Amino acid sequence: MTNHIHVERQDRILRVRFNRPDRKNALTHAMYTALGDALELASHDDDIRCVLFTGDRDCFTAGNDLADFLKGLPGDFADTPVGRFLVLLATATKPVVAAVNGPAVGIGTTMLLHCDMVYAGDNARFQMPFASLGLCPEGASSLLLPSWLGRARASELLMLGEAFSADDALRLGLINRTCSPDETEQLALETCQKLAEKAPSAIRATKALLTEPTQEQIKRTMMTEGALFSERLKTPEAAEAFRAFMEKRKPDFSSFR
Ligand code: COA
Repeated sequence: MTNHIHVERQDRILRVRFNRPDRKNALTHAMYTALGDALELASHDDDIRCVLFTGDRDCFTAGNDLADFLKGLPGDFADTPVGRFLVLLATATKPVVAAVNGPAVGIGTTMLLHCDMVYAGDNARFQMPFASLGLCPEGASSLLLPSWLGRARASELLMLGEAFSADDALRLGLINRTCSPDETEQLALETCQKLAEKAPSAIRATKALLTEPTQEQIKRTMMTEGALFSERLKTPEAAEAFRAFMEKRKPDFSSFR
């Protein structure tokens, strides 16, 4: 149980809000469990036609909680709360829309690769700093980004791990529209309302045709990435990166080989 994820039904839309502002909505194991539960609810409840993921005006999510990372990921990746959430998201049968403002770091960006439509405020900052943290890509980003954007741009995003703007994300085709941060959630909600009014099985059939051909490969990649990610969490490189974040300094990887 966590109050850091708010789940609210509005008409036929399930709005799922990251709500941990003092930690920039960083995601804990308990929060992933709540996110997975929300996706399961949406898939089983015939009255829900669409899911909306959002944060607040200033922050989507700073990604995985770095303190949780220090505890490691137990056992099989598929059984971890984050693994379960990612698979449920990638195999969701109903449309998923995201409204993104401010930082969308790590899984805050990779989860968007599995959303059907994404709206971003012009304060949005996307980033996949896995390698900079001594880790490796997750969320099937190592599969999807090169196939969507080409190898060069995928390598840039995943190896350099620098933040990029909402305009950049739009140019790359990763999001649908940019707007003022005050409008993002409303814009996304209007899209959810349009989706909720459409013929539900036609929307599900459309989503299935769009997602099913690549679903098995995506799940396999998520598991391969997840296993490597779990291993990398135990490396001295990752330990140095997390220590550096806590100490608010740049990591020093100069002595590693
Ligand atoms: N896990 C745990 N705590 C986090 C966090 C995370 N992923 N991201 C931010 N926080 C905490 C900070 O430690 C800080 O705590 P403090 O007030 O006790 O110092 C608080 O949230 C506010 O963050 P801060 O860094 O001061 O905010 P900012 O606006 O300057 O920067 C971010 C926002 C998201 C750019 C920055 O916090 C960041 O880079 N976070 C780490 C993101 C990350 O690497 N995620 C993992 C990806 S795999």
